Amino acid sequence: MSRLILLGAPGSGKGTQATRLTAKLGVPQISTGDMLREARKKGTPMGKQAAQYMDAGGLVPDEVVIGIVKERLQLKDVENGFILDGFPRTIPQAEALDVVLGDLNIKLDHVVEIAVPDEIIVPRITGRRSCPSCKRPYHVKFMKPRVENYCDDCNTELVQRSDDTEIAVKQRLDAYKKQTLPLVNYYENKHLVRKVDGSGELNEVFDRIIKILS
Ligand code: AP5
Repeated sequence: MSRLILLGAPGSGKGTQATRLTAKLGVPQISTGDMLREARKKGTPMGKQAAQYMDAGGLVPDEVVIGIVKERLQLKDVENGFILDGFPRTIPQAEALDVVLGDLNIKLDHVVEIAVPDEIIVPRITGRRSCPSCKRPYHVKFMKPRVENYCDDCNTELVQRSDDTEIAVKQRLDAYKKQTLPLVNYYENKHLVRKVDGSGELNEVFDRIIKILS
């Protein structure tokens, strides 16, 4: 049973490692960033509202994000566990998650904090590409697809996120430090935090996470 939160700055590797953990552990990845981007793509009212915050590098209001996660956690596929990627990101979100999990009578197993120094974050993010169809992440230098700019899995043309600009990244890092880092303390008080060094090669980081989980 794995009920995990991946906590870390933008570009720390949450999405990349969550994809790998999903394959290894057989539990779904729940990424609020992906869900919000999907809503934007569909042009839903919620997606339109979220877009302005996302492009500016700020956080989407708590009530919006809490609502979509609450709904997602009611689905049957989370029965054997889940990997929360990018949620919670504020203390009110963490408190709301506690209530939802309490109602479902389930407990978190670990909060994995992926720690990466600021100086390696900007090149990671500006070089990121992803598949708009299956969401698989790539990097122009560190995780190249077999055929340049096309997804290895579904052959869709890769895209760059609209918030992956240097200016937005600085705002996102700022938001992380002010609004999300206090969660480390919140979960340390619950003895759930497992800190992992997120610098170094992708497989190395993955092995560190697996070691900590076992
Ligand atoms: P979200 O999509 O969650 O973005 P983020 O947290 O800013 O994180 P990223 O996706 O940028 O980074 P990551 O840690 O997943 O890194 P990745 O694995 O891709 O959120 C986007 C926006 O949505 C937010 O700004 C906010 O507006 C809104 N939002 C989402 N959730 C919210 C919430 N709960 N509350 C409020 N608002 C919310 O890696 C990055 C790149 O580096 C990739 O190209 C990858 O290939 C490469 N890479 C990864 N690991 C390594 C490595 N070890 N070595 C070399 N390259 C690596």
